[in-house]
Amino acid sequence: MKNDQQTYVPDPEVASRLLEWYGREGRDLPWRRTRDPYRIWISEVILQQTRVAQGMSYYHRFLELFLDVAALASAPEDLVLKCWQGLGYYSRARNLLAAARRIVETHGGVFPTDYADVRALPGVGDYTAAAVCSIVYDAPCAVLDGNVYRVLARLFDIGIPIDTTAGKRTFAELAQLQLDTSRPGLYNQAIMDFGALQCTPANPSCNNCPLRDECL
Ligand code: ADE
Repeated sequence: MKNDQQTYVPDPEVASRLLEWYGREGRDLPWRRTRDPYRIWISEVILQQTRVAQGMSYYHRFLELFLDVAALASAPEDLVLKCWQGLGYYSRARNLLAAARRIVETHGGVFPTDYADVRALPGVGDYTAAAVCSIVYDAPCAVLDGNVYRVLARLFDIGIPIDTTAGKRTFAELAQLQLDTSRPGLYNQAIMDFGALQCTPANPSCNNCPLRDECL
């Protein structure tokens, strides 16, 4: 629904339909069986580099080698980079190590619970902080990744490019308004899975889409 000023009005049906879809179709993934912030953080950083299918083996290997924050913090950098080999963009791996060391030095080895403290860790941007804090702590922070942009753009017929300041602001505001704040972690994962599996970039499955009545 759009009003005259091109501000987008959230649709309350969307969240409940997404969550219902997620209950049926959502993927059973190893990082969805834990609320350990360290594991969720590692999974989210890996998933910024690769798809779920490929990311799974990296996730398991990383956690075998570095069981927790303390283990990662005391690891030699070359071992962390070796574990990252194939994922590319090595600064992400260096930042994981730097953040683990920061957690040990500044937070007594305990993963921070506050959004601002999580966001302040090396390599943690808006996406990662929102993902970790919503999934682990139920913080009311909407994630915005490529899947979420696409789903919202189609649902609300938004043509404004996301690589502009106005576009980023528009999507960020809408994503936040659309978030189910009673279940932010579930909702965030639902909309990301929905983009990955149903509302795909090419040939989306519109025929059996649970949002087809709402979608512009
Ligand atoms: N992509 C990145 N993180 C994800 C998550 N937690 N669920 C679904 N897709 C994702």
